[in-house]
Amino acid sequence: METEKEKSLFKAAVKARENSYSPYSKFKVGAAILTESGNIYSGCNVENCSFGATICAERTAILKAVSEEGKLTIKKVVVVTEPQAEPCGMCLQVIAEFACPECVVLLCDSKNVLKRMSFGDFLPNPFDPSKLP
Ligand code: THU
Repeated sequence: METEKEKSLFKAAVKARENSYSPYSKFKVGAAILTESGNIYSGCNVENCSFGATICAERTAILKAVSEEGKLTIKKVVVVTEPQAEPCGMCLQVIAEFACPECVVLLCDSKNVLKRMSFGDFLPNPFDPSKLP
């Protein structure tokens, strides 16, 4: 972990992961985002017996953040899984809506940061709202 803020972000994701509601997949995910205002928001995956209504940890964190702050910019995203895993395509699209150009994604297990990537490497050409009529 490079900074104290990063440590806090990681801790928030680990803590949120403890609340993961994942009785179907048994795959616990915790996520935390750092916004440009310096705030940290965390989330866990919340599954549903319909399966399709399941919400990923990253989107839980982002929806919490937007409902608290309104329009915001994401500087960093931490995802904690065991074993380490990448965010799904739907979460990448939602991150893209709010990510700053330098947004960084840290992929972690519950102990360490295992991969540090720029968001642009995950989704170099996201669907862009400026294309909407
Ligand atoms: N999951 C996440 O929380 N984030 C992702 O980016 C990938 C998948 C969750 C959804 C589901 O509860 C479980 O992991 C298995 O797919």
